[in-house]
Amino acid sequence: MNYPDVLLSPIPIGPHVLRNRVVRAAMATNYATSAGRVTDRLVEYYGSIAAGGTGLVIVEFAFIDRMVSRSWPRQLSASEDSDVTGLSRIAAAIQKSGARAALQLCHAGPQRIPAGQRQWVPSVSGQARTGTLHAIDSDEIAGVKASFTRAAQRARSAGFDFAELHLAHGYLLSEFLAPDRNQRSDEYGGSFAARMRFSLEVVASVRAGTEDGLPLIARINGSDLREGGLGPEDAASLAVALTSVGVQAIHVSAGTYESRHLRSTPTYGERGNLVELAARVKRDVRVPVIASGGLSDPEHLDAILSSGAADLVSMARQLHADPQWVAKVASGHPQSIRPCIRCNNGCLRRGIDGEPVTCDVRPEIATRSTAKPAARKKSVAVVGGGPAGMEAARLLAVRGHHVTLFEARHELGGGLVAAARPSFKHDLARFLEYQKGALESLPVVIKLGTRLSSKDLLALDAEEIVLAAGSHPRRLPADDDAVVMTAEEAVTGTLDSGARVAVIGGGVTGSETAWHLAQLGHAVTVYERESQLARSAESNHRQWLTDALTRLGVHTVLNTEIHTVAADGTPRFADGNPAGPAANAVVVAVGAEKNEWFTRPARTSGKPVHRVGDCASPGDLAAALASAWEAGCRI
Ligand SMILES: Cc1cc2nc3c(=O)[nH]c(=O)nc-3n(C[C@H](O)[C@H](O)[C@H](O)COP(=O)(O)O)c2cc1C
Ligand code: SF4
Repeated sequence: MNYPDVLLSPIPIGPHVLRNRVVRAAMATNYATSAGRVTDRLVEYYGSIAAGGTGLVIVEFAFIDRMVSRSWPRQLSASEDSDVTGLSRIAAAIQKSGARAALQLCHAGPQRIPAGQRQWVPSVSGQARTGTLHAIDSDEIAGVKASFTRAAQRARSAGFDFAELHLAHGYLLSEFLAPDRNQRSDEYGGSFAARMRFSLEVVASVRAGTEDGLPLIARINGSDLREGGLGPEDAASLAVALTSVGVQAIHVSAGTYESRHLRSTPTYGERGNLVELAARVKRDVRVPVIASGGLSDPEHLDAILSSGAADLVSMARQLHADPQWVAKVASGHPQSIRPCIRCNNGCLRRGIDGEPVTCDVRPEIATRSTAKPAARKKSVAVVGGGPAGMEAARLLAVRGHHVTLFEARHELGGGLVAAARPSFKHDLARFLEYQKGALESLPVVIKLGTRLSSKDLLALDAEEIVLAAGSHPRRLPADDDAVVMTAEEAVTGTLDSGARVAVIGGGVTGSETAWHLAQLGHAVTVYERESQLARSAESNHRQWLTDALTRLGVHTVLNTEIHTVAADGTPRFADGNPAGPAANAVVVAVGAEKNEWFTRPARTSGKPVHRVGDCASPGDLAAALASAWEAGCRI
């Protein structure tokens, strides 16, 4: 079969046929109430993922009892019979458009947020976490089995097609499987057969308790991704054992909270890094295997299936960023998929902080608004073709306005062009291509190489103006002879090979610039006034960034504020003393100031002027897109 035929071909799991092989992996949202009850937002959210064509939608992990099984503060509940009514609304919303619905059931074990709560573990010794750890006894094990069973009965009563049992990610059942975490001496610890016992008994109990039939999927770790944890061979044996007690599909993931940067990989990480773990499991089992982890590109997914590495593929973040993924592939428009850039900001970071998840590239989630057709079609001039200008132009055109986009440079993208240049920023490059493609498919008039003066802008017959003029990088006083440049210039220009480069400012931009330059073979030193590099970055990203800099031998000087640059490129403290050696080139990455262009004329223009992106307030991509979205909806 040719692409995307395999991806879109139906497949049975147990008694149910899925319309295609695309699975939405469970992804907690914090959209439930603080009691774990279903909200309208949850129902709409899952309905929209199903409406986008997804074959199987696995609803986020639900806690199974009111004891200590809960992980996230606003986690969904399957712990009480009174949850069934709400859960049935989610199942119905998913099934309405032809998708199959699964509910994931989970006991948190030691993964409880916020930390410090009572945590159930197989044994107190061997744990990565501290706090109130409790090694559960045999009565409590029996209680957990009963809780899983009752929760599965509720899933069945609510009309779900499947339950997915969570045996992965370092939650309770996963910890029993791990040799280093399970140091029990009873029948639930010791040999691998003993460590599997709890999981297998849960499956048996659930199956016995749902005699009218609730097919089960097991989410397992193909590896715990740490020395001493569950490895790929044991994972394959576990999968075989699970299928022998009636599990009808295996969903292969990996890692625990400590290694989540290898599961929900940040933008710098390899995509599909866990597929080989799924392939290992698939060699040994006869039921469908679902591969997961960093998947996004339809051709890549189709190739995974065609190679026989897995029978289905799951995505969590990508279907959050664009629930229409399947519909766009099926209609032959994969280029219109809004790519997840794996920033982990709106989803993972907020989720772990207990906030409802948003998405950095999908502003409508945070603003909780939808784009309605314009009541009256207007002519709108958008000035600036960076990410905010492009998003505003796109949305305005979608809503029916007549849009002209003016960009001074000869290409669209603004600051995104340089930001997406390093080889490790491939996700951002894809996002830029998506933005450009979206504009090409709409009747937006794009005028490149057109730098408007205030007079030009005032003379246009546009009824409203969107200003997306970006920002100016902050500068440092420097001797005229010093070679000083912005991060953008450093990334897009060329330096003499083997140059000694000082990067002033070790935020995300400075650190990524240092990484890029070090990759090109330059000897780089980063000066940062804080005690940590990339302080504002999501923790997984910070970890990858600092690891990369260390690997490439980048020298970092923390707690050091540079005030001036000498003629020979020596960064200097406020008192004029040198902070480090001279450099052939100095890159200044100490933030940005908004472009105030057109502020005064705007007041007297008599036209509504909407400032978006960095020229409203310098910030990250999410902030730029959100302000553009709001302006695009307002006009
Ligand atoms: C915000 C967030 C919440 C998640 N919640 C769950 C969950 O409830 N259950 C689960 O098994 N995995 C959960 N995961 C892990 C994802 O299912 C998935 O394995 C991981 O993000 C890698 O896949 P992706 O690159 O397609 O996102 C979550 C991931 C994120 C980012
Ligand atoms: S917030 Fe970032 S990582 Fe999460 S889905 Fe959106 S783009 Fe992807």
